[in-house]
Amino acid sequence: MNRLLELETRYNEFIERQDPLEGQRDESLAWERIHMASSASEAWRMAEELGEDPEIAACAAAVHDIGRVVTGRQAGHAEAGYEPAKAFLKATGLFDEEEIEIIAAAVRKHSSKTECGTILEEIVKDADVIDCFRFGYPFDRPEKEQRYHRWKERRMTAKG
Ligand SMILES: [Fe+2]
Repeated sequence: MNRLLELETRYNEFIERQDPLEGQRDESLAWERIHMASSASEAWRMAEELGEDPEIAACAAAVHDIGRVVTGRQAGHAEAGYEPAKAFLKATGLFDEEEIEIIAAAVRKHSSKTECGTILEEIVKDADVIDCFRFGYPFDRPEKEQRYHRWKERRMTAKG
């Protein structure tokens, strides 16, 4: 076992403790759980392809929407997730200080989809976009569609 299973288990418990605010959340807590797990899986695959640490990439993708989980709001949720991510990751006892900072930075940056950050940050952004697309969320911004097409091209090239 690696840290991803423990992290996802702890994050599920964290989601459980949030107020569901029925009908008032921008996204349901059920979606937060589903999107956590499938974004993490996609990030793992991307990290393997790109030579990044898959465990850290998957853990970062798993918690990337923690700001929305905590506030219930989509607007500004990436920035709002930075401190809660740090606190949550620290409380798990699974990560050292450097890893916590790397993951929390990826959480904070994940909505900046026109910008290009570290490879890990880009993996989290792309995994987010691709996962939402798979569940039928429309591309609400052109940069998301561009990311999706770039990812698809990469996949085609990799397959030869
Ligand atoms: Fe997301």
